[in-house]
Amino acid sequence: LAPQDLTGETVLVTAGPTREELDPMRFLSNHSSGKMGYAIARAAADRGARVRLVAGPTALSTPRGVELRQVVSAREMHAAVMDLASDCSIVVKAAAVADYRPACRQDQKIKKGGESTLSLELQRNPDILAELGQLQGERFLVGFAAETEQLLENARRKLQDKNLDLIVANDLTAEGAGFAGDTNVVRLIYRNGDVEDLPQMSKDQLAHSLLDRIRSRLHGKEEA
Ligand code: PMT
Repeated sequence: LAPQDLTGETVLVTAGPTREELDPMRFLSNHSSGKMGYAIARAAADRGARVRLVAGPTALSTPRGVELRQVVSAREMHAAVMDLASDCSIVVKAAAVADYRPACRQDQKIKKGGESTLSLELQRNPDILAELGQLQGERFLVGFAAETEQLLENARRKLQDKNLDLIVANDLTAEGAGFAGDTNVVRLIYRNGDVEDLPQMSKDQLAHSLLDRIRSRLHGKEEA
């Protein structure tokens, strides 16, 4: 049995991809399987937290004791997170949210024309994490960053721009890291500038390692 060291905390986790529909048949999305976010939700529930999971489309089953809110698009995820975040002491955003959606969703299937190219106009989605960062307060806010280059610089910029307490940086070019697999390799960057490299481990183990760190820093934050 896991230690019940998150009893009394309410944790909001996001997981999986979002889908941005082009027409009734097609969408833009990414390779997130949801495994990382589901592992965090499961670990937090096992440790006694009340857990709310906002998830895009995945093939995973809901962990025991977790309240699931299923969404499809980034705008639906935005609405669900804003609805559920207010009384949460910890928010972990492991979802891979589409930054853009088609500017116009067609009601009918888009037909092939005579041209060999087709241009899509895209519109920015709301940045959910940045909006939570503006609201901050006592809440401990954790983001993920998936990068293919300049991991540390890009992740640090996101930590600052989104006003986070901690960012979990995935190097998508590293073996055993990132999307879909059962393991991850991450670098943790804290608000005070501390950087910690974690070795490759299963997403379940990483979830517990993250919660250990969040828990000790959360109480530091409340007492600050
Ligand atoms: O799901 P798995 O297959 O297990 O893979 C795990 C993972 C690689 C998806 C996960 O570990 C991860 O890195 N998630 C974040 C991927 C990502 O979208 O990063 P980003 O750099 O685009 O976004 C940075 C942060 O802002 C993320 O916490 C994201 O949830 C958040 N964001 C981004 C855009 C947006 N419009 N709203 C957001 O809240």
